[in-house]
Amino acid sequence: MTMKRAYNFNAGPSALPLPVLERAQKELLNFQNTGMSVMELSHRSKEYEAVHNAAKERLKRLLNVPDGYDILFLQGGASLQFSMVPMNLLTEGKIGCYVLTGAWSEKALKEAQKIGLTTVVASSKEANYTYIPPLDDVQWPKNAAYVHITSNNTIFGTQWKEFPNTPVDLVADMSSDILSRPFDVSQFALIYAGAQKNLGPSGVTVVILRNDLLERIPDGLPTMLDYRTHQKSNSLYNTPPTFAIYMLSLVLEWVEEQGGVAAMEERSQQKAAVLYEAIDESGGFYKPHAEKGSRSLMNVTFTLPNEELTRTFLAEAKERGFVGLGGHRSVGGCRASIYNAVPLEACEALASFMNEFRRRFA
Ligand SMILES: Cc1ncc(COP(=O)(O)O)c(C=O)c1O
Repeated sequence: MTMKRAYNFNAGPSALPLPVLERAQKELLNFQNTGMSVMELSHRSKEYEAVHNAAKERLKRLLNVPDGYDILFLQGGASLQFSMVPMNLLTEGKIGCYVLTGAWSEKALKEAQKIGLTTVVASSKEANYTYIPPLDDVQWPKNAAYVHITSNNTIFGTQWKEFPNTPVDLVADMSSDILSRPFDVSQFALIYAGAQKNLGPSGVTVVILRNDLLERIPDGLPTMLDYRTHQKSNSLYNTPPTFAIYMLSLVLEWVEEQGGVAAMEERSQQKAAVLYEAIDESGGFYKPHAEKGSRSLMNVTFTLPNEELTRTFLAEAKERGFVGLGGHRSVGGCRASIYNAVPLEACEALASFMNEFRRRFA
């Protein structure tokens, strides 16, 4: 029986590379002749530890993580990092600076407000987050603990094109674009990302942090919420999400085989160009949400002339096997999430459907 794979434009959890799924399927019942699935291995076994360390090493290689940084595999999603970052770094008398570029940065700020002092240093909220605000004129507080940005705004479809050089430690939520382009890790104090977009399935959250941050952490935090616990134990303090980390390792291997993050960037540019062209050449039928200079290469957001056409578009798209195209309620319209594992052909098929739909309804 031949299987038809969906054109998967889900925002996360989202498409995984087919060769990764096939490999996992092949190894499912008997991982490296253990007679067990990876899921059935002890997290203290040498077989699992090799998987764990390989995932860490691959990520380090792919992102060129410099010495003096550590990679942690945590649970609780990116959402728990909204709390862990301020609990660990927003110490007494310090101010957590936040750049608001969408719903996820708002959520990060809200959690920090429960922990300590915060300030919003830049925001595009007044424009319903259609652009990434510049940080050139920011008056940085003297006692800033860090500045938090969201590198890619999954819901609004905007993305930082260049990361800011800030006089205070830069913390980034990279959940929806990590591994999609090369960047300089040393520009950041801390990076976090839930895995379920570019890294693998849900269940594991990657944190990359500069080790000197560990010295600032106040004593008395709950053990599991203290970065030092996980750094000291190679993220094996308690049972890690072993299967998710195994899948992460396979995804990272696949990215390496494809040519690394530079190759991912090239593919993302090609894929996004196909969809933005369908939008830009639609004579206003499809309206992009994001301003041109801030457009995301991961989440392409657009609206149609009215609600009824949007409903028809989504219903027809579904019939043709396009999945996950409904926009978030705060933007409306449609969103195509085109993470690393979404093939160019899926974007071409969608663009061609968009053109055909426009010809019928414009
Ligand atoms: C940019 C960003 N940050 C945070 C989150 C929340 O992640 P999690 O569900 O892993 O807590 C998401 C989820 O889509 C996201 O896109």
